[in-house]
Amino acid sequence: MTSFPALRMRRARAAGWSRAMVAETSLSPANLIWPLFITEGVGVEDPVVMLPGVSRWSVDLVVARAREAAALGIPCLAFFPNTPRALRTEDGREALNPDNLMCRAIRAVKDAVPEIGILTDVALDPYTSHAHDGLTDARGYVLNDETTEQLVLQALVQARAGADIVAPSDMMDGRVAAIRAALEGEGYRNVQIMAYAAKYASAFYGPFRDAVGSGGLLKGDKRGYQMDPANGEEALREVALDLAEGADSVMVKPGLPYLDIVRRVKERFAVPVFAYQVSGEYAMIEAAVAAGAADRDAIALETLTAFRRAGCSGVLTYHALHIARLLA
Ligand code: PBG
Repeated sequence: MTSFPALRMRRARAAGWSRAMVAETSLSPANLIWPLFITEGVGVEDPVVMLPGVSRWSVDLVVARAREAAALGIPCLAFFPNTPRALRTEDGREALNPDNLMCRAIRAVKDAVPEIGILTDVALDPYTSHAHDGLTDARGYVLNDETTEQLVLQALVQARAGADIVAPSDMMDGRVAAIRAALEGEGYRNVQIMAYAAKYASAFYGPFRDAVGSGGLLKGDKRGYQMDPANGEEALREVALDLAEGADSVMVKPGLPYLDIVRRVKERFAVPVFAYQVSGEYAMIEAAVAAGAADRDAIALETLTAFRRAGCSGVLTYHALHIARLLA
């Protein structure tokens, strides 16, 4: 094997043109999915205090954000509704209302900016009074099969409104197969399913729960359905099941602390893998920036490049618009 000084690894690093030429990983706006929070009203921008730079937008302004995103080459938006407290119930029935905030936003954006993809969250937590992702029994246990029936109806409501990708984030067993069958049954052959296949019971979701209005509502925790951060083998089983049930792509969530899972999933299954750089991760970066401990652009680009290197096709990130502008 060639060794020093015949081989100097630094030769290729010495100039920018050379570094660009040997880069193994690229990051482009096409790799970004932008999560947007939606709120009632017209002309409303409601900042999310825990997520500096992130707001809840009324439907008309979501359309404006969609135009910006499309112009910058962001291929897809992910929608999350902040359901008014008065509409939240034990059974989360507002999730099935074809005129709920989510559906109105989908229709408005598909109408005005048809070229951008829309990914919708399938789970009941933005609609339930207890903020769990599903229906609960008298003891607070989240019921699997009963929840799945509801999620199927929710996914259909979203597909009818024009959703391009439905993304179940609830972690019920068997829901991908049930949703796939229902979509086929109604003729939605090209509606994709991006399964939140390996979703962990994480402490990084706090600001998100606040953003969708679930803050303070959650009874107990989600460890009875979301995964234990200690487990990796289990993530591979979850992914295998969701793919067998008809998922088009899979997601790992949270992001940066779980890149080992991304890599294992990519190597084992060779399918499109996405990761969600979640609210707590974004909040940590922004806190470091505010403290003068990090440079936003550099740290955001570095983390997103790390997702790509680990094997992600794309990343859901609250920095999407900012990064797309930087890359432009
Ligand atoms: C719930 C859902 C959560 C997120 C996306 N969908 C939170 C949770 O499971 O409690 C978190 C996203 C983020 O933190 O940015 N279905």
